[in-house]
Amino acid sequence: MSDLNRQWLLRARPQGQLSLDDFEYREEPAPDAPLAAGEVRIRNVVFLCAPTMRNWMDPPGNSFYPSVPLGSPVMAPAVGRVVASNNPEFAVGDRVSSISTWQDYATVAATNLRKPTKLPDGISFVDALGRFGLNPLTAYFGLLEVGQPQAGETLVVSGAAGSTGSTVCQIGRIKGLRVVGIAGGADKCAWLTDACGIDAAIDYKHENVEARLAELCPNGIDVFFDNVGGDILQAAVNNMAPKGRIVLCGQISSYDAGEQPEGPRNMMRLIYGSIRMEGFLCGNYAAEFPRAVADLKAWHEAGKIVYREDLHVGFDQLPAAFMTLFRGANQGTLLVAVDEAEARATR
Ligand SMILES: NC(=O)c1ccc[n+]([C@@H]2O[C@H](COP(=O)([O-])OP(=O)(O)OC[C@H]3O[C@@H](n4cnc5c(N)ncnc54)[C@H](OP(=O)(O)O)[C@@H]3O)[C@@H](O)[C@H]2O)c1
Repeated sequence: MSDLNRQWLLRARPQGQLSLDDFEYREEPAPDAPLAAGEVRIRNVVFLCAPTMRNWMDPPGNSFYPSVPLGSPVMAPAVGRVVASNNPEFAVGDRVSSISTWQDYATVAATNLRKPTKLPDGISFVDALGRFGLNPLTAYFGLLEVGQPQAGETLVVSGAAGSTGSTVCQIGRIKGLRVVGIAGGADKCAWLTDACGIDAAIDYKHENVEARLAELCPNGIDVFFDNVGGDILQAAVNNMAPKGRIVLCGQISSYDAGEQPEGPRNMMRLIYGSIRMEGFLCGNYAAEFPRAVADLKAWHEAGKIVYREDLHVGFDQLPAAFMTLFRGANQGTLLVAVDEAEARATR
C-alpha cells in the first residue's frame, strides 16, 4: 500500500470549455485516521470518465449529485479495493464500485448517495466499470424501458459511436429494430455500419442531419435515443413519427459550452404526434441491474456486441483523458487505470 495519496482537485469553476488549469495536482500522506461508524476507505484502481462529471464541476444547479467544492478532489465513478472498514457490510479486500473522487484513497460513508456496491467475482475492475458498467446499463434501461421499442421500428441514436450510444445501437439491432446512428466523422460512421452492424450512419460534422434523417427515415423516427441535445435533438424532433418516443439520456453538446442550448422548438410536433419525451437516470433501475448484466454478458459471449475500451494508464492522466470526451477523441468507454495489471485482475 502506498504511503501517498495523490489527488486531482478542482481548482476553478470551468468557464465553458475545460482547461487543464481548472485542475490542480496535490500529494498528501495516505489517510490513516480512524473511520467513523459506517465508513469505508477505498483504494481506487480504475476511474470512469463520465461526461456528466463536467456538470458536477459547475456551481450547484440541476445535477442530482452535489457540486464539487472548489479545492476538493473531482467526483467520479470508480472501482477499487476496501483497505479499511468500519462497516459490517464491507471487509478489507472487498472490490467495490462507488461514486468516488480523483484520489488514491477515498473515504465514504456507506449510507449516502455514494454508497459502494460490491463487484462480483470473475469480472475485472475494467469490465465492471466499462463493459458491464454505467454506460451499457444506461443504454439497456434507456432503450428498453424508456424507449419501449417494438421489433421493426426505426431507432435513431445520437452520440452513436460512444460508449453508451454504441451499446444502444447494438441492443437495438439485437431487438430487431432498424438502426440509424449519428456520430462525428467518417471513421466512426464506418465503424458503426461495418463493425456494429447498424443500418446507416450520419456524420453530423459533414452532413445535414435533418435532411439525412428525412431521407433515411421516410416514415419517421419511432425511438430517438439522445445523448447530445441541441441542434441534433431539434433535427430529430422535426422527424419524429406519430406515437414516437424521445429518450433523453444526455446533452453533451452543452456541457462544455458555458450556456444552455436553445430549444428544442417545434413542440407542436410532439402534441400533434402524441410523442413522448422522457428523461431518465440509469440509477433509477439499480434494483434491476443483475438482469441487465446477465443479458449483456450473454450477448458478449455470443459475439453479438462489439465493445471498444479506451484505457489510459496512470493517475497523472486523469484530467487530460477526461477532456478528450468533449472533442470526440475517445474511442469507446474512457477509463483511467492507476495500474493496468491490477485493473485487469478478476479477483
Ligand atoms: N442518463 C444517464 O443516466 C446517463 C448515464 C451515462 C451517460 N449518460 C450520457 O450519455 C452520453 C454519452 O456518454 P458516454 O460516457 O457514453 O460518452 P461517449 O459517448 O463515449 O463520449 C462522448 C462523445 O460525445 C460526442 N460529443 C462530444 N461533444 C459533442 C458535441 N458538441 N456534439 C455532439 N457530440 C458530441 C463525441 O462523439 P463524436 O465524435 O460522435 O462527436 C464523444 O466521443 C452523455 O451525454 C452522458 O451524459 C447519461
